[in-house]
Amino acid sequence: MAKSGIQPQLWTPRPVAETLQVYTDWADSYDADVGDRGYVTPTRIADAVLPWVTPAVTVLDYGCGTGLSGRALARAGLGPLHGTDITPAMVEVARQKKIYDRLWVGEPGTPPCAPGEYPVIIATGVVSLGAAPPDCFDLLLDALAPGGVLALSFNDPTLQDGRYDARLTARADDLEILFREHGPHLQESQMGADVLVLRRR
Ligand SMILES: C[S@@+](CC[C@H](N)C(=O)[O-])C[C@H]1O[C@@H](n2cnc3c(N)ncnc32)[C@H](O)[C@@H]1O
Repeated sequence: MAKSGIQPQLWTPRPVAETLQVYTDWADSYDADVGDRGYVTPTRIADAVLPWVTPAVTVLDYGCGTGLSGRALARAGLGPLHGTDITPAMVEVARQKKIYDRLWVGEPGTPPCAPGEYPVIIATGVVSLGAAPPDCFDLLLDALAPGGVLALSFNDPTLQDGRYDARLTARADDLEILFREHGPHLQESQMGADVLVLRRR
C-alpha cells in the first residue's frame, strides 16, 4: 500500500492475517494516502455522535488506526479518548499523535472491553469491507451497556455487499437508530459512506 496508494481490491473480503499485513504495510503512508483523497468520515462521525454523548464520558475509538478518527473526536470536544486497534504498526503511528489517554493493541474477534465498560464506542471505517468482518458489529453492540451509543460507518462497497446491513437488521430488536445518513467518505475517489449512530436498547 505504501508505494501504490489505495487499490480497489482493498474493499474486498480477505482473511484477517492478510488484512493485518495490508494495514502493517500501510501504516506509515495511511494518513497521507487517505488525506489526499479527502477522507471526511472521521469528521462526519464526530459531528453525528456529538449530540448523543454526555460531556466528559470516556469514548472508545475501536479500530483507531493511526488516530485520524480520534483526532476528529478530540476536535469535536469529545473525550477522554481510549483507542484500540489490531494492527501494532497503526497503533504506533496513533501513539505519536498523543490524543489517546489509553491506547492498546487488541485481538481480532475479541471484545475490546468488559461489557458496559464504555458508554460510547466509535468505529470509523472499521466494520466494513477492507477491515473487520460483519460479526464485528455484534461484538461492539454486545460490548455496550443498555443505553450505550455506537457510531460507525459503512462505505459504499460495504453497503453494496449487504452482509453488514444484514447484521443491523438481525439485531433490530436490540438497537435504536438515532441517525443514519449517506454522504462523502473519500471525496477524491467519489466514494460515499453511511454514517450511523445507534443506541443499544
Ligand atoms: C480504514 S482503517 C480505519 C482507521 C481509523 N478508524 C480511521 O478512521 O482512520 C481500518 C482499521 O480497522 C482495523 N481492522 C482491520 N481488520 C480488523 C478486524 N478484523 N477487527 C478489528 N479491527 C480491524 C485495521 O487495523 C485498521 O486500522
